[in-house]
Amino acid sequence: MILKICYCLIVIHTLSFCVVNCLNNTNHRFEVSFEWNYINFTWPNSKVYEIFFKSGKYIPSNNAMAGIKYYKEKIYIAIPRIREGIPITFGYISIYDSKINPLITPFPNWNRNELNNCSNLQSVQSMEIDNNGIIWILDGLRINNLTSCPPKLILLDLNKGGRTVVVYEFPEHICLNNGGFLNDIVLDNSDGGFAYITDNSPIDPGLIIFSLKNKNSWKIRDQSMFPEVNTSSFEVDNEKFENLAPIDGIGLSPISLNNSRSVYYCSLAGLNLYRIDTSILKNENKCRGSSWRKKIYFIGQKQAQSDGLIIDNKGNLYYGLLPLYAVGKWNINTPFLESKLLDQNRSLLIWTDSFAFDDKGYLYLLANQIHKFFDPSFKFKNTYETRFRILKLYTSTNSYLYT
Ligand SMILES: *[C@@H]1O[C@H](CO)[C@@H](O)[C@H](O)[C@H]1NC(C)=O
Ligand SMILES: *[C@@H]1O[C@H](CO)[C@@H](O)[C@H](O)[C@H]1NC(C)=O
Ligand SMILES: *[C@@H]1O[C@H](CO)[C@@H](O)[C@H](O)[C@H]1NC(C)=O
Ligand SMILES: *[C@@H]1O[C@H](CO)[C@@H](O)[C@H](O)[C@H]1NC(C)=O
Ligand SMILES: *[C@@H]1O[C@H](CO)[C@@H](O)[C@H](O)[C@H]1NC(C)=O
Ligand SMILES: *[C@@H]1O[C@H](CO)[C@@H](O)[C@H](O)[C@H]1NC(C)=O
Ligand SMILES: *[C@@H]1O[C@H](CO)[C@@H](O)[C@H](O)[C@H]1NC(C)=O
Repeated sequence: MILKICYCLIVIHTLSFCVVNCLNNTNHRFEVSFEWNYINFTWPNSKVYEIFFKSGKYIPSNNAMAGIKYYKEKIYIAIPRIREGIPITFGYISIYDSKINPLITPFPNWNRNELNNCSNLQSVQSMEIDNNGIIWILDGLRINNLTSCPPKLILLDLNKGGRTVVVYEFPEHICLNNGGFLNDIVLDNSDGGFAYITDNSPIDPGLIIFSLKNKNSWKIRDQSMFPEVNTSSFEVDNEKFENLAPIDGIGLSPISLNNSRSVYYCSLAGLNLYRIDTSILKNENKCRGSSWRKKIYFIGQKQAQSDGLIIDNKGNLYYGLLPLYAVGKWNINTPFLESKLLDQNRSLLIWTDSFAFDDKGYLYLLANQIHKFFDPSFKFKNTYETRFRILKLYTSTNSYLYT
């Protein structure tokens, strides 16, 4: 009798363990929320559309999305001006829009996206939204001649229709007017507010620190932010990537009890992951000289090259693994050897780029084939293939910005 009960318990235990395990595994699949063959917009009227379309100011196949962030049932989308024919550089969709080819609405509006009026958004690669609903937009892709405006950071209040809060133009010695590339941004609300920004410039790559309180910025430049020549080339979807792309992905650890936080970063062309404490970054004096270099820690070599990174409020770092068509996951409080592939799919995860969290426990991911758009010799043969996907996965966590 006792034996039987015991046997029974073991069976139940094994069964329930298996069910939980299998469920968890099947949950670790990103599912497509939205997908596009090409990008189109909600135009002010058909006349404006005709003018843009006929004059080549809107070339559908040249438009690509790069950064995504979620706020109050909208997904904000950056559309960097990488090629010609990109009418707006910043917009949004609603999460209730149709799954296939939803139209992007310009934000804050059509006029504020006008090219070559330097008060407006010119070429946006990425952004972050703080706990007060202020969106910090990086208008800083300056590696082509489509705009001659200085690179800038612009803060808009999403709860007030995009009212401008702050505009900060980066001086030439921080980000090059011609050759700078503000790539990704994380926010730290301590001591009056800081942004940590990767400058993917091929000429002057580095990590930029912006102080909101003092409206100034500084930059550190280090070998760990350069491309790693030996591991720089790879291939995604039959398109080689051979640019010596420097520092790109950036993540900030969540708020901890002892107020100690770290920025994690990596070059696009390379495998190494590094970390530096924000206590160094936030102190402009500590960023002078060279002793701060001793405070850069090598974490480990990732399974492959990455573009975007994000950290959640439990310290899990999610990172794209470009040539593996995968997403990696590592908890920053554990040895890097424990990092693993979270999901992998050759047909969906084609160039895993930008991440975002919503407020319901979902992680969003943009897969965008952006390397093809950056290759001037790449010609799109058709408009019926899916080029962009926004996928989501339930993690039950939130972004590093929240406790
Ligand atoms: C499965 O997921 C649940 C909730 O996310 C978690 O509590 C549980 O520990 C997981 N089980 C396994 C076996 O990973
Ligand atoms: C873009 O959308 C507009 C409606 O906003 C539509 O009239 C137009 O035909 C669309 N263009 C393309 C190329 O899909
Ligand atoms: C530039 O854009 C700003 C803000 O949208 C606008 O107020 C201004 O009139 C524009 N300037 C020109 C010359 O069009
Ligand atoms: C801008 O760059 C493109 C491609 O690099 C080049 O073909 C074009 O001539 C340039 N235009 C100007 C005005 O310099
Ligand atoms: C890079 O590759 C070359 C040639 O294979 C090798 O000699 C060199 O040690 C490598 N460098 C590093 C940093 O791995
Ligand atoms: C702060 O806490 C983290 C873990 O949460 C730990 O790794 C770090 O060493 C601590 N820093 C200090 C200065 O005590
Ligand atoms: C990739 O995703 C597609 C579409 O959801 C699915 O049919 C396919 O089985 C997945 N591939 C792998 C290897 O899981």
